[in-house]
Formats: sequence, C-alpha cells, structure tokens
Amino acid sequence: MAQKKTPPNNRGYYVRMKLLHNKHNRPQQDKNCFHKYYKWILWLSLSLYFFTSYLISNNHHNHNHNHPTPQPHHNTRTLIESNSTTTTPQLGLLKNMKVFVYDLPPKYNTDWLANERCSKHLFASEVAIHRALLTSEVRTFDPYDADFFFVPVYVSCNFSTVNGFPAIGHARTLIASSVKLISSEYPFWNRSRGLDHVFVASHDFGSCFHTLEDVAMADGVPEVMKNSIVLQTFGVLYDHPCQKVEHVVIPPYVSPESVRNTVENSPVDGRRDIWVFFRGKMEVHPKNVSGRFYSKKVRTVIWRKYNGDRRFYLRRHRFAGYQSEIARSVFCLCPLGWAPWSPRLVESVALGCVPVVIADGIRLPFLSAVKWAEISVTVAEKDVGRLAEILEHVAATNLSTIQRNLWDPETRRALLFNSKVQEGDATWQVLRALSGKLDRSYRSLRVSRQLDFDT
Ligand SMILES: *[C@@H]1O[C@H](CO)[C@@H](O)[C@H](O)[C@H]1NC(C)=O
Ligand SMILES: *[C@@H]1O[C@H](CO)[C@@H](O)[C@H](O)[C@H]1NC(C)=O
Ligand SMILES: *[C@@H]1O[C@H](CO)[C@@H](O)[C@H](O)[C@H]1NC(C)=O
Ligand SMILES: *[C@@H]1O[C@H](CO)[C@@H](O)[C@H](O)[C@H]1NC(C)=O
Ligand SMILES: *[C@@H]1O[C@H](CO)[C@@H](O)[C@H](O)[C@H]1NC(C)=O
Repeated sequence: MAQKKTPPNNRGYYVRMKLLHNKHNRPQQDKNCFHKYYKWILWLSLSLYFFTSYLISNNHHNHNHNHPTPQPHHNTRTLIESNSTTTTPQLGLLKNMKVFVYDLPPKYNTDWLANERCSKHLFASEVAIHRALLTSEVRTFDPYDADFFFVPVYVSCNFSTVNGFPAIGHARTLIASSVKLISSEYPFWNRSRGLDHVFVASHDFGSCFHTLEDVAMADGVPEVMKNSIVLQTFGVLYDHPCQKVEHVVIPPYVSPESVRNTVENSPVDGRRDIWVFFRGKMEVHPKNVSGRFYSKKVRTVIWRKYNGDRRFYLRRHRFAGYQSEIARSVFCLCPLGWAPWSPRLVESVALGCVPVVIADGIRLPFLSAVKWAEISVTVAEKDVGRLAEILEHVAATNLSTIQRNLWDPETRRALLFNSKVQEGDATWQVLRALSGKLDRSYRSLRVSRQLDFDT
C-alpha cells in the first residue's frame, strides 16, 4: 500500500484505508462464526489436553529411568501438534494497544528476502516480527491511532560470499536513512523524537551493530535510535553500552517449521540416548567485557576435558540434521560464543533438552513467561572444568523435575516466532513487553490527559 506518499495530516485517508482493509481482509463473518463455536473449541481442547496428559503420564510410568538415558516425561509429538488452544490470540491482555507498521520502500526490507536464508537464519527475528505484525490484530492502519510505530529494516541479510556470515557494516546507514525518510514524510517521529518507535536488532551485540564486542562497545547505540525501543537478542545483567537504550530482550530465531519437522521425525518413545550434547565451533576468542578478561576459553576447556568422554557427544562441525541430535539429548550445552546468547537456548527448550547455560551474566528473554531457573542448569564459566560432576549431581537429584518444567507447552511456545501471532508465542511476548511501555505512547498520554480534563 502506498501510504508513504500521503500528506501526513490527511487523517481521512488513513481511516479510509482502515475501513477498506477491514472490508477486504478481515471477513467479519468468519469472526462471528468463530465466536459462536468458541466454547465448543475450548471444551474440545481441554478434553484433548486432559486425555493426552493421561496418556502421557501412563506412558511415563511404563518406562524405567535408567541413567544415563533418562526418559523425558512427555511424548514430544502430542503436545506440539495440539495447537488448537493457541489459535485464539487473546489480545485483550494487550490493553487495546495499537501498532503502526511503516510501509518502507523494499530496499529497507523485502528486497533482502531474495536470499532465502534471510527469513530463516538465527537473526531472522527482524523478518519474523515484521511479518507477524502485518497480520496481527494490534496492527492499525491509522497512525494517529497508534501507540507504537514499528520500523521494519532488515540489516542482517547481507551474507558474506566468503564465509556466509551476515555483514552488518551497512546497518547504521540503512537505519539512519530509514529514520530520515519517516521523519520527513510523517509527523510521528518528530513529535516524540522516536520515543514510541520500535526497531529490531537481532545480531550479536544488538543495538551496537557490530560483530566484535570491543568495536561494538566503542561504537555504542547509534545516536538516531537512542530514544527509541529496541528489540534485541543481546542482554546482560551488568552495565554494557549495547543495552543503553530502552529495549526488550528477545530470543534468537529458530524456525518453528524446523522444530515441528524434527519432532515429527524423532522416535515416538522420546528416548534420549545422548547424555550431553554440543555441536559447534570449539575455539572462540576469549571475551573482554568491561575490563574483565577471561583467559580461559570456555569451549576449548570443554573440548580438551571432555572430548573422548563417552558421556559427552561433542562435534565441531555443522550438520544439517543437528536438531534431531538435540531431540535425542538429555543436556544441551549453551556456552557463550562471540556473544553470550546462542540459538541453542531456543532449540534446546523447543526440543526438550535441558539447556546448560554457560555464559556469566547473560540476561535471558521473556522472564515472565519462561522460568529459566526452573528449566535449565546454569554453570559458571569458572566451573566449566567440573561440568560432568555438576551434571551428574543434577541427574541424581532434580533432573526429572527440570525436565517436567521444561516440557510445559507454554514455555516452549514463548520462544518461537510464528508467521502469524499466536497467543503466548515470541511475537506475543514482545507485544506484551511493549504494553508495559505504554507510558511512551503519545496516544495514551493524550487519552489520559483527556480523561483528566473530563473529570
Ligand atoms: C495447527 O494450526 C495450523 C494453522 O492454524 C493448521 O494448519 C494445522 O493443521 C494445525 N495442526 C493441528 C495438529 O491441529
Ligand atoms: C554488503 O556487504 C559487503 C561487504 O561484505 C559490502 O561491500 C556491500 O556494500 C554490502 N551491501 C550493501 C547493500 O550494503
Ligand atoms: C522533522 O524534523 C526534521 C529535522 O528537524 C525536519 O527536517 C523534518 O522536516 C521534520 N519533519 C516533519 C514532518 O516536519
Ligand atoms: C580488556 O579491556 C580493558 C578495557 O576495557 C583493557 O584495558 C585490557 O587491556 C583488555 N585486555 C585484553 C587482554 O585485551
Ligand atoms: C537443581 O539442583 C541444583 C543443585 O544441584 C540447583 O542449583 C537448581 O536450582 C535445581 N533446579 C531445580 C529446578 O530445582
């Protein structure tokens, strides 16, 4: 839609667009029809849920728990496939929040989709959130009615022809250019100086837009974004220049389809025959954060100490089917790499492997939805040499509790970005986080001022 060219004050136009949109894209009839049957659907889902829980707990009692291959408590298949409860987005929880999505020229976003990897790789939340918002009920076509303004710029899809890594050298320029465009063609940026505008920064050091931490730290958050809200994968518990901006920590992107395929192809009995799993680079540069220099390279220590230990399944190289290995594993190591976070966190949770987080000070996404302390094991970087000992202790004490917590469908749903928002999924969690920042909304302020005036 060519909203961009519209004179910014022509309110009637937006309203017209909104009406047109309703007429053509949101068949009201379907909605009514759905409302009529929702009780039925609810009842059916609940019965299905209790029935499957019954089956699962029976299944569980019929198995032995032999260390080192404990059974997960639940059959992977049943819970992931029963998605009937997730298709009703109860957006009421989101306080009638409205988001306007800028319609930027394709060079800022969709042109990059020519490369198929752009919407699938670990930084693809910038694409996934944009897509999900476009069809979401919180989207408004009337920017005067919006609480937040989403600026869809894809910066992570310029893949190097040498090593396949995304080059993000152009990110700052592209974002600055998008802001120049929206601030000259619309009045909304200037009126709040970007306060209610939302960006995604999904790569290693989030809003610092550089893959090397020292450079990222030196560069800091671009001046142009400093007032805005950034959805970023990077988050730490200590002071760090790359989170000196209003932000929400989001999970890295893992394709829900790939997870579903893995689940469908994994053994029906849910056997986990690998005790500790890690696949990836074993040598990563040591980090130097705020002067704290770690000479020990966590991954190298793991490799030196445990390669050859029968309990550990460690592999250096990428392998397309590695998710099936995660589905077969009890513990999945998530050591820091270039950045503290890694897609392993999401893959482990989605596939029922207990994440072993080895990244001091990491701040994990969506704390209100995912009780990380109850579903994972945290090992301090300095203790990585005692990894086997620590995991043996967990296996002997509370592993089954952790696995049971991990298998909560709500937890696993919260970390995946679906192409359409589902209640409780990752985009929904982002919206929920934004609904906690409505004090930045120009519209809410105006509405509450009006209410003050009226009373
Ligand atoms: C899950 O939902 C999708 C789309 O809403 C549907 O196509 C699919 O058949 C559903 N799966 C199950 C098992 O209900
Ligand atoms: C993509 O990255 C390369 C460096 O790897 C750079 O030369 C090129 O200008 C970038 N392309 C765009 C459109 O920014
Ligand atoms: C917003 O401010 C910038 C810089 O002050 C200015 O160039 C631009 O024209 C303004 N935009 C609008 C829509 O007035
Ligand atoms: C680590 O960073 C601090 C400052 O942040 C610097 O003084 C120190 O030399 C760095 N150490 C190494 C080994 O790079
Ligand atoms: C499991 O036990 C470990 C100590 O061995 C403890 O640190 C952790 O919090 C426990 N986790 C749960 C979920 O009980």
